[in-house]
Amino acid sequence: MATAGRGQWSGKAGFILAAAGSAIGLGNIWRFPYTAGENGGGAFVLVYLLFVLVIGIPVVLSELSIGRFTKLNPVGAFKKLAPGTNWKWLGGLGVLTGFGILAFYSVIAGWTLSYLWGAITGHIGGVTTAAESEAIFTTLISGSYMPVILTAIFMILTVVVVRGGVSEGIERATKILMPTLLVMLVIMAIRSITLPGGMEGVAYLFSPDFSKLSVGVVLAALGQAMFSLSLGMGAMITYGSYFPDSENLPQAGVIVALFDTGIAFLAGLIIFPALFSVGVDPNGGPGLVFVVLPSIFAQLPAGGLFAIAFYFLLAIAALTSTISLLEVVVAYFVDEKGWARQRAAITIGIACFLFALPSALSQGAVGWLTDFLGTGITFLDLQNIIWGNYSLSFGALMLCIFVGWKWGIPAALVSLEASGHKLPASAFFSAMVRFVCPVAVGIILIYIMWTQQYF
Ligand code: TRP
Repeated sequence: MATAGRGQWSGKAGFILAAAGSAIGLGNIWRFPYTAGENGGGAFVLVYLLFVLVIGIPVVLSELSIGRFTKLNPVGAFKKLAPGTNWKWLGGLGVLTGFGILAFYSVIAGWTLSYLWGAITGHIGGVTTAAESEAIFTTLISGSYMPVILTAIFMILTVVVVRGGVSEGIERATKILMPTLLVMLVIMAIRSITLPGGMEGVAYLFSPDFSKLSVGVVLAALGQAMFSLSLGMGAMITYGSYFPDSENLPQAGVIVALFDTGIAFLAGLIIFPALFSVGVDPNGGPGLVFVVLPSIFAQLPAGGLFAIAFYFLLAIAALTSTISLLEVVVAYFVDEKGWARQRAAITIGIACFLFALPSALSQGAVGWLTDFLGTGITFLDLQNIIWGNYSLSFGALMLCIFVGWKWGIPAALVSLEASGHKLPASAFFSAMVRFVCPVAVGIILIYIMWTQQYF
């Protein structure tokens, strides 16, 4: 037992499933395709992949090393490694960011519940035209009651699992469902690619048009890499804190990162071919996936049943992500403030639901939230960009500086290699964490402030 009462993963496989459960979620299946669509396709995808490899994986390993070594939540971890310094605020920003992401993420997760219900009642499986699909989506998200109720339901589900503790609650949910989701995604990708005109979508995703690159595209790719891998706010610090000392941590971390990226690409291979096949605009924004997917189910044998299974698994994938977001905030209040887990989970769940309300009502129900403060984007989109792009990118930047220059690579390696399994290419890891990541992320953030192209 690591620290009495904190719990621990049952082993490496348990960790991989739970961490992959955190990483794989709406970020892969909802956020990745529409962000790629908004940012011109191939060029964005290439930059995203590059960021996963040179920034994502080193940051995954950095976070895990801190978590395993300190066995604490992000704030406690920085306090332990750098006592009496301001680094604890970086952990605090992470906890806040977890709260901020959870508040808009649970709204989208609520939409998936409604599609699940639509699939069960037969309203989704039989949709054939893009216009019909669009009408269903708009009606759902612009309402004043349903989005709020669904967000509440999702928040309650999340609280119930997090209340149950680490290995009992989180692990059990992911063990069977993640592999099933993978199989279904493969089937859907094959169906989508073989639709008439489907190959156009594959080309859109994989042939980069570099004239589309801009600093906005680069930030979106960086934010997406961090968001999808659950990085930049200490989720992996928290998950690493439950990792047994006897197991191979670097390998587990890299597997999670590659698994997550693979699922995002699969989602792209589902959405873009289908989109070109039915003639939906790739630049459709956050509704993209919800509008495009129903057209695939109509083209599958037993599509109605398939749709039920798919939306069920999508909701579960979202749940294993919201669990990790809430877990970070709860771990903070349990470790640092001495709250009982039960009380922390419920209190934070309620507070986060209240903060989710403006996002839930920003899709047409309430005008000033729909074009928030003259930004031209909805309150939900703004939350997504503030927490999902800026805060995570800034968090990753500071984390690299911390591990590379304050705590030190040798200490991180001792933690990563505690089981005796060596990190291959540790010189590469060191160069990325100390130089490449901070410089690259720093340049992107400074350039954005300079040119004021905030979103
Ligand atoms: N990675 C998840 C997804 O892709 C979302 C998520 C869960 C997350 N925990 C996180 C994002 C922590 C950033 C940080 O859906």
